[in-house]
Amino acid sequence: MSETTVDAALPQPFGEEFRADPYAVYARLRAEGSVHRVELPDGSPVWLVTHEADVRAGLSDPRLSVDKRHSTTGFSGFSLPPALDRNLLNLDGADHLRLRRLVSQAFTPRHVEMLRGGIRSAVDGLVERLAERIRSTGRGDVVAEFAKPLPLHVIGELLRVPAADRHRFSGWVAGMLTPRSREELAAAIDQVREFLTGLVADRRAHPGDDLLSGLITARDAEDRLSEDELVSLAFLILMAGSENVQHLISNGLLTLLSHPGEPAAVLRARPELLPEAVEELMRHAHPNQTAIRRFTVEPVEIGGTEIPAGDTVLLCLGSAHRDPARYPEPDRFDLHRTDKAHLALGQGLHYCLGAPLARLQTTLALEALLRRFPRLKVADPVERLPWNTTFRFHALRELPVTEEPLG
Ligand code: HEM
Repeated sequence: MSETTVDAALPQPFGEEFRADPYAVYARLRAEGSVHRVELPDGSPVWLVTHEADVRAGLSDPRLSVDKRHSTTGFSGFSLPPALDRNLLNLDGADHLRLRRLVSQAFTPRHVEMLRGGIRSAVDGLVERLAERIRSTGRGDVVAEFAKPLPLHVIGELLRVPAADRHRFSGWVAGMLTPRSREELAAAIDQVREFLTGLVADRRAHPGDDLLSGLITARDAEDRLSEDELVSLAFLILMAGSENVQHLISNGLLTLLSHPGEPAAVLRARPELLPEAVEELMRHAHPNQTAIRRFTVEPVEIGGTEIPAGDTVLLCLGSAHRDPARYPEPDRFDLHRTDKAHLALGQGLHYCLGAPLARLQTTLALEALLRRFPRLKVADPVERLPWNTTFRFHALRELPVTEEPLG
């Protein structure tokens, strides 16, 4: 008998009420306790951890493994083929360390700082395109015209993905993350795998001085990673490097434009506060609702609940960031909040590889948008904006904006 049948009566917190207001659902769950046995929309039973202290501790707990081989409930997630699955977020221990060492150099603060000029000119070009759209039609969509193309360009340049292919890649990833059917999911996975194996074959034939060529040399000349690991690493970096930054920029801009206290106006007057504002946005407007799923390698007690070995644990970042036990008045975006220690980029061995790149892009993007559009406002009622909200993320699908006429 499958786990799913045994747990048929489990609560399913990720339904209609959650899509309407995930933070209200988290508040209710937190009040009932930290750890909840719940069912995901695909029927998988998981333990959802909601208290900030337990989420923080869980991220660095070696008894919580990201390696699916520890699952005894047959957790399959996206059911990715090995060519996409052998990546950092599915590996622990020596394999994780070996692969992380191969790519960490490219993402150190010093290396990322060298990208500043290129990112700034990409930002400026996109801001002008958005301005032109607003000028000609009266409104523009920050997601489609700015927040999506920017990180795709930046990470695409690092891996030297042809410009024409970046948009197609992003479409397939969207099909993977929010598929309308199992068939669409399977087709998107196939397209992503085919595209990446083609990209690797092409780069083998025409190497350069980009990150992907470096990984191919590490495989072919030094035998430091397998072919599946090579393709999977390229996949993870492209996906993580584009999706999350896109969502933080658009969710973050919405907060700046709509939150009480006019934070956008404050930041226009004092742009030197932007790096701090980005840290507070990472807590308040963070798109990733849960960390990557983890599996208990032995029975583990969390928040007074004993979780058996082999079960799936979801550490809920979205709930942790709104936990009043850690952050006073957690729903308030507070530029001057002293506790900036959020979990938006994870913690411990799987701490976000692209953290310096995420911070730099988000800061430059928000700074340029606020500077170029002194009277920017959301064009539709905020409560009617379209979101993609799942247990994985809470992200704006569109952010229509306009420029208020001079008063
Ligand atoms: C605002 C943007 C970003 C956010 C919010 C974000 C968030 C995260 C989080 C929460 C994790 C840890 C997952 C876990 O432990 O379960 C992570 C890991 C990771 N991120 Fe990011 N990320 C962002 C940008 C980027 C960028 C630009 C890259 C580009 C390289 C990137 C690449 C990665 C990789 C490769 C990992 C896995 C690291 C490992 O397992 O060792 N991320 N990210």
